[in-house]
Amino acid sequence: MKIRTAVFPVAGWGTRFLPATKAVPKELLPVVDRPVIQYAIEEAIASGVERVILVTSEHKRSIEDHFDSATDLEAVLEARGDIEHLRAVRAVADMVHLVTVRQKEQLGLGHAVLMARDAVGREPFAVVLPDDLIVGRSPALGELIGAYEKSSASVVALMEVAADQTRRYGIVEPDPTLPSSDGGRTIPLRGLVEKPEPKDAPSNLAIVGRYVLSPKIFEKLERTKHGAGGEIQLTDAIQALAADQPVVGFKFSGTRYDVGAPEGWLRANLDLALDHPTYGAALRTSLTGHAQDRK
Ligand code: G1P
Repeated sequence: MKIRTAVFPVAGWGTRFLPATKAVPKELLPVVDRPVIQYAIEEAIASGVERVILVTSEHKRSIEDHFDSATDLEAVLEARGDIEHLRAVRAVADMVHLVTVRQKEQLGLGHAVLMARDAVGREPFAVVLPDDLIVGRSPALGELIGAYEKSSASVVALMEVAADQTRRYGIVEPDPTLPSSDGGRTIPLRGLVEKPEPKDAPSNLAIVGRYVLSPKIFEKLERTKHGAGGEIQLTDAIQALAADQPVVGFKFSGTRYDVGAPEGWLRANLDLALDHPTYGAALRTSLTGHAQDRK
């Protein structure tokens, strides 16, 4: 079945980025020239998604505004003859069909996805965490959808992490009895565990914020108890799903940045700006000058 819906959980507080995120949602912080969430929405659209469900909260109204038309602003730009910006502003409003649901209490990622149940309906769907900005030649979600189409299994995105980093991620346990495919990139899974200590981690394969899930996940989420960090974890519900239906991991090809905290956000800005057709050359010159001044 075609994956036409993607759920974007965006209700969180963004505490790792305070004070920048005191009044501005972390999803609207810019990376070079676009807000973080726009990269993820563009990736979803490039992957064939037609409908985006934002799971949001009372502090996050400005995210919807970013994807709405801005009549006053457009009139000003039109009167000034600023066609370039007018086009950019309108393109964002025309980008996607957005549906918003509210998560009234922040009880965890699994709870956020459960809030989208009625809006998703009874079809497989994607989940995209915009904090994970993934840059590559092909859209990461599209790669996962390809793996879903081949395997008919639910799919989680995977990347390798250092052994001492496991407590920051969901970590998967590959199923040694089933063969991997796609040159080792699609890996059948036996289990998933949220944020294990290195000594308890079943592998060094970490879950990154892209998922393609069977609608059966909602039944599992309903029964998922509070897990790591006292939250209702999506990872725990997928672990329960794996007992009934196949779940695979997929090693995507792009580079992932954790833009929900300053370090990853700075790296993303630097890398994307250096490659940017307008800003790259000047930035390279100023970085070279900066490095010489420091000698
Ligand atoms: C969430 C998931 C975790 C995953 C991570 C990827 O954690 O619960 O399994 O590895 O996203 O970014 P969070 O970073 O929201 O704590």
